[in-house]
Amino acid sequence: MKINADRLWNTHKILASFTEPERPYTRRSFTPLYKEARAWLEKAFKEIGLVVKYDAAGNLTGLYEGETNQIVAVGSHTDTVPAGGRFDGVSGVLSFLEVARCMRENNYVPKKSILGIDFLAEEPSEFGLSCIGSRLATGNFNDDMLSLRHHKTNQSLLDVVDEFGGNTAALKQGKSTFDVEKMDAYFELHIEQGPILEKKELDVGLVTCICSVTRYDFTIFGRADHAGNTPMDMRADAVVSAAKMIDMISKIAHESLDSGIFFTATVGNMSVYPNASNVIAKRVNFTLDIRSEDNNLVAKNLAKIFDGVSEIEQETNTKIEYKKISQDEPALSDEKLLSILENNAKKLDLKYTRLLSGAGHDAAYMCTKMPMAMIFIPCKGGRSHLPEESTTKTQLENGANLLLESLITCTS
Ligand code: HGY
Ligand code: MN
Ligand code: MN
Repeated sequence: MKINADRLWNTHKILASFTEPERPYTRRSFTPLYKEARAWLEKAFKEIGLVVKYDAAGNLTGLYEGETNQIVAVGSHTDTVPAGGRFDGVSGVLSFLEVARCMRENNYVPKKSILGIDFLAEEPSEFGLSCIGSRLATGNFNDDMLSLRHHKTNQSLLDVVDEFGGNTAALKQGKSTFDVEKMDAYFELHIEQGPILEKKELDVGLVTCICSVTRYDFTIFGRADHAGNTPMDMRADAVVSAAKMIDMISKIAHESLDSGIFFTATVGNMSVYPNASNVIAKRVNFTLDIRSEDNNLVAKNLAKIFDGVSEIEQETNTKIEYKKISQDEPALSDEKLLSILENNAKKLDLKYTRLLSGAGHDAAYMCTKMPMAMIFIPCKGGRSHLPEESTTKTQLENGANLLLESLITCTS
């Protein structure tokens, strides 16, 4: 049995068409566009006879029924970052759809059932939190998270999860929305979003560990003043303070390069108030995003960052406040599943390597409830989270065939 590469490529084109026209490819979670795209996916699931439902976390699921109700799950996400790509997350969900279509065409009935999942809001949304559907589905949330408010509409996360197919009343009992006793494994296919596979001319990557994601919200309070008439030594400039903070964070992260332990620190979003060229900034807000395979190093570097705050406050006459948004543990893949992937990669004559993922994935939460493994496929220039993000039909085909083979191994 082999997947239909043209059909898989074509479904990517269809899903990519659900984008904000003025900034392709943008399909933000909790938007009407996202709802439309999920309606298309739901229809495609139903057309091949999958049992379709939204779970209490708002995840769209499609069950390919086998002889028993023991389950192997496969998933990813179909929401994007602003002006993102057409493959991040999407390739995992559409590879499941293609695998299910292929199995159906071959009248294949596995012993175990296969559950395909489109997780709600994997990308950090306007709530500031990522992986909402997989956190909620696996009980990895607390009341603070549920009461998070949308930065623009002020809607609570509770409201929108219900609006997008979830049932937060059921969630509040705190149990997983999945019948985890019945779930034996979780696979996720995803573009690498990094340069290794392409550089080494490999077909697939077998992910050994998904780095932890730690996010902090920083608010810097300065004093608004006239840009022209306020002497340089009489200012409390929140932007200057933020610049010093970000430079210090970057230096600390660079120092970790020679530790040989994977560590990144990024400030990718920032808001300035009142954000006028002739007004000294009164307030700056930014999010610090840290990734590492070792949370001891995260703790050490965060301590260095926090130690540096008071010096910058004095230097700039500003007040710097910060609060933790979320912190996870690194997620280790299951060795048994990795060797299934490895044996099938050899069987399919695919060139592969084991590697870690600096990018966060829904698999990191699923693995708190069941054994997990991820398949990476190369992406052009190792780049992602931008419209030029791309992979090839053959690279997709290789990954999806490895997923198909491994699902057959795990469900027969
Ligand atoms: O941020 C991440 O690592 C993922 O792409 N959501
Ligand atoms: Mn992403
Ligand atoms: Mn992703």
